[in-house]
Amino acid sequence: MPASTSFSAIPASKFDLSQCTGSAAVFFASLADLDELKSLSGSVARAIQSTDFSDLKAGKTLTIQYPDGLAAHRVILVNSPSNGTVKDLRAAGAAACTAAAQGQGLTLFMPSGPDTQMAEVTLGAVLKSYHFEDRKSKSTYEPITISAVAQDTASLDGVDALAQGVFFTRDLVNEPANVLTTTEFANRLDALSAAGVKVTVMEEDELNTLGMGALLAVGHGSDSPSKVVIMEWNGGSGDPLALVGKGVVFDTGGISLKPAGGMEDMTMDMGGAGVVSGVMKSLALRKAKANVVGIVGLVENMPSGRATRPGDIVTSMKGDTVEVINTDAEGRLVLADILWHVQEVYKPTAVIDLATLTGAMIIALGHEYGGIFSNDDALSQDLTKAGETTGEVMWRLPLAQAYDDQLKSRLADMKNIGGRPAGSITAAQFLQRFIKEGTPWVHIDIAGVALQTKPTALAPKGATGWGVLALDQLVRDRFEN
Ligand code: BES
Ligand code: MN
Ligand code: ZN
Repeated sequence: MPASTSFSAIPASKFDLSQCTGSAAVFFASLADLDELKSLSGSVARAIQSTDFSDLKAGKTLTIQYPDGLAAHRVILVNSPSNGTVKDLRAAGAAACTAAAQGQGLTLFMPSGPDTQMAEVTLGAVLKSYHFEDRKSKSTYEPITISAVAQDTASLDGVDALAQGVFFTRDLVNEPANVLTTTEFANRLDALSAAGVKVTVMEEDELNTLGMGALLAVGHGSDSPSKVVIMEWNGGSGDPLALVGKGVVFDTGGISLKPAGGMEDMTMDMGGAGVVSGVMKSLALRKAKANVVGIVGLVENMPSGRATRPGDIVTSMKGDTVEVINTDAEGRLVLADILWHVQEVYKPTAVIDLATLTGAMIIALGHEYGGIFSNDDALSQDLTKAGETTGEVMWRLPLAQAYDDQLKSRLADMKNIGGRPAGSITAAQFLQRFIKEGTPWVHIDIAGVALQTKPTALAPKGATGWGVLALDQLVRDRFEN
């Protein structure tokens, strides 16, 4: 089963700092918050008198090992100003987790902060405690068990839903492609029905009947069958928000084969589908009052005697024909058909797609910002704001006719690549050809942010789950009633 870490909530009335074992993290906003610690003699009181303490910056930690007068192995003081934003509070929780010892408990304690702040701190600590050890025969990692002290423990109820959604995404993205085949992926999504998500798995014959010739062309060379999975969460009323994800379980490039160096990272090419799946899980677990439909195209891009060739012309579900100049520009072929299908069937009020679509995105924005492309200023602004709130920051790039012109084909309605200049934009222009007039749409290219080689504020290195928190926030801000 996928790795997951949970936490428990302790009512403040039952909490005794002197009896707390493992690591005790104290989130203080002012010196008065530390009265209980100041009255202890020895190491803790000395630490609080020190310049290490007086110089402690917001969000930073000061750790005291084997503190005198306490049962805990370590006390972690976290400078957590009362005006901290959601992002700051989550980062402070994550910093406490980093300072805690593996295999022990970590108790989070905020002497004067409200429970809403404790919830954010807890989410940060839980997210940072994630480890993917499922494919190690002998794991050396021992989990940190997190407890959070709150006045009203029910205020922490929402934390688990978000953490489980992010972990679901991270697990999917971290899994190798021989484990996470299209079939295994669909099975894991099917399990979301336990949380109340209506899950429909469409197989190749059905996709053929629907005319999804672009999506099917990508999976032709693989022994794993192509699938489209639809996840419906009906917690509200009216037409749904549609979330659309690229789920290429492995991208070799196909006949336009990628170079060997770094190709192993293409296990993450289902990252868009992973985020859509994680958001659906969070929405269901927290019983969001919104209608949201998630759709993912699960395919594997492999070379073989049956693989699509450069020069082949395929027909999309929309009816437009595409000349496949480069079989490595496969994500847009997958998205074209599922974007069209979701609009035909669900008449969504807005469409947001996520994809590890272009290497050019990493050239443009590195591993810091997600790139967004949109036909709707209000939707893209709301999404950008949700990204700022959660620390999953995004930057908008332009769409324009001149870029679309790069897709003209001599033989078909369009080519699947527009050449090297503005590669991320021409990819987005390709997608826009499959968005109906009047449908607000944002495309998020997550090629640079889905996987990291270094730890980030809320994640260890590897899969980040980037996007789950921002999309959940957008649903809260704009789609929940
Ligand atoms: N999955 C890749 C994009 C990618 C590259 C994601 C690196 C994450 C890290 C995508 O399918 C792809 O191969 N795109 C090509 C497009 C090109 C052929 C027009 C690319 O970016 O090179
Ligand atoms: Mn590719
Ligand atoms: Zn790809």
